Amino acid sequence: MTKKIGILTSGGDCAGLNAVLRAVTVRATDGYGWQVFGISHGTIGLLNRPLEYRPLTVEMFDGGVFHQGGTILGTTTKGDPFAFPMPDGSFKDRSMEVVEGCRMLGLDALIGIGGDGSLKIIHELCRRGDIPFVAIPKTIDNDLDCTDQSIGFMTAVDVATEALDRLQPTAASHDRVMVLELMGRDAGHIALTAGIAGGADIILLPEIPYKLIHVQNKINQLLKRGRNFALVVVAEAVKTEEGQPVQIKDLSGRARYGGIGHYLSDQITRLTGAETRFMVLGHVQRGGQPDAADRVLASAFGVKAVDLIAEQKFDRMVAWQNRTVVDVPILEAIAQNRAVDPKGVLVQTARGLGICLGDES
Ligand code: F6P
Repeated sequence: MTKKIGILTSGGDCAGLNAVLRAVTVRATDGYGWQVFGISHGTIGLLNRPLEYRPLTVEMFDGGVFHQGGTILGTTTKGDPFAFPMPDGSFKDRSMEVVEGCRMLGLDALIGIGGDGSLKIIHELCRRGDIPFVAIPKTIDNDLDCTDQSIGFMTAVDVATEALDRLQPTAASHDRVMVLELMGRDAGHIALTAGIAGGADIILLPEIPYKLIHVQNKINQLLKRGRNFALVVVAEAVKTEEGQPVQIKDLSGRARYGGIGHYLSDQITRLTGAETRFMVLGHVQRGGQPDAADRVLASAFGVKAVDLIAEQKFDRMVAWQNRTVVDVPILEAIAQNRAVDPKGVLVQTARGLGICLGDES
């Protein structure tokens, strides 16, 4: 029987979203003969009247769309329908309008591509509206539980690694310490993985409390050994040594991470006398073409998500575990975030390479 399935991208964008849209469209259309509707800007497309959506066809992905960055559907981080920001500054629960939007479209199932925040919201909407739901994990932060990898992470790591590759020669040419601040929200997965791949000497993570004395000692050890530069990676959620969060506020008063690289670079100059420069890599980590790993992951997730609908298996999230694609209960996946394991293999690897993690010199 022909089905109508809706798909939306929600929360911050990342590389690989168009590759999932392509996989879902091809599998649903060619594999099952269903129709796919792409909803604009996350749940906002279901909130606005007229509804904002467009049919997705296999032909739309014939060209190079699937390996472009961003999302052709658009997305938002500001459209929580349970607390929707109104023009007068108040917040209103508009969730039932979204549910009604789904009904107006006549959807048999909805696929939501998101990180933990947006998947929680979409799952709750679907629960209230009795809408069959399948989730696909995407976030450069890689902090969703129950999946080894989320779409966007490996591309972000590649970008951050390339940044380190580029910072190293300029650091060595000028006898400088370079501090690279990386995204990741409250988790240090990008910083740890890219730091190892890019040859960092010091990596500071939100999961491992640090002391500046260890950073100072590590830089002095390197200088003593004849090194004339150092590479430092810091995850954006790392706090000051005294435990103060480092954040910036935009004009609306919304706080965002940002500034720990600057703080650390000043502290390193104060303590070691080294000339430092800091760089905030920011949204460069989210943009650009997905790498091959993210394209493959997105393709596997997209096909599996459609197959789950065909099997009538709902409230599931597709996931990557032990080199294969599986599905897990969505409630398990969104119950808690997955931080870096301070005893995990990558932390051990970093320590084995002599990388300072700030808790010892
Ligand atoms: O969650 C993804 C992420 O890129 C985080 O790493 C970062 O802190 C945040 O989103 C940035 O959000 P925004 O796009 O709102 O600046």
